[in-house]
Amino acid sequence: MRSLILVAVILQLTVIIIECHNYKFGDMIAFPRRCGCIKKPVYKHFAIYVGDKPFPGKQPGQDIFHHTLISLTHFKTGCVFGVLGEKVKHELDNSLDNETLGTHTYIRSTDEVITERINNVTRDGCGGYNPLTNNCEHLATYVRYGHKISRQEDTWIARICRFTHIPIRLCIKYEEALERIEKNALQEAECWENPSCAHLAG
Ligand SMILES: *[C@@H]1O[C@H](CO)[C@@H](O)[C@H](O)[C@H]1NC(C)=O
Ligand SMILES: *[C@@H]1O[C@H](CO)[C@@H](O)[C@H](O)[C@H]1NC(C)=O
Repeated sequence: MRSLILVAVILQLTVIIIECHNYKFGDMIAFPRRCGCIKKPVYKHFAIYVGDKPFPGKQPGQDIFHHTLISLTHFKTGCVFGVLGEKVKHELDNSLDNETLGTHTYIRSTDEVITERINNVTRDGCGGYNPLTNNCEHLATYVRYGHKISRQEDTWIARICRFTHIPIRLCIKYEEALERIEKNALQEAECWENPSCAHLAG
């Protein structure tokens, strides 16, 4: 009897650990990247949570869709399914919901439309990586809202140009820094899913 109770307790603990996040299909998930010397996250990686919903080409256990590094040898990226992972910090970030920026209001699309966008991107590819126009946050906002935007809100990277009063789009420093940091973050991301390359993580 006692061992039965123990098993029940262990099972329940397992359930609690596995379900400690309660992300829903279509949620935007941010992965803040920190560095000891800077208070704010340096940079944020983004993914869309898809849970166990089946998609063509999605493997069992995969639960996110993101723009990430798919070849370490050539800095080649792609929009693929991946695993949330237990070791890295992540958090819900649907902060654009119902926000109006400029002339656009960001409304969460229906599950059907989000599913169709993921299928289309999987079929057509998501184009070459560009820190200013086609990064991992652009993919996530496109899938959830149908409109690409990258704010890198509340990160160190977003502040680089504000000090110099240069429009962010024209700021070479921002572009260079974001690309360097993202390249590093993408290599790290690759390593969560493939421990054999852990030595490459910066
Ligand atoms: C956004 O607007 C929709 C429709 O009015 C509403 O159902 C939803 O709760 C709003 N979300 C937030 C985060 O305010
Ligand atoms: C997906 O692609 C099809 C045709 O290729 C297109 O008609 C449709 O509008 C796309 N769906 C979305 C949500 O963009």
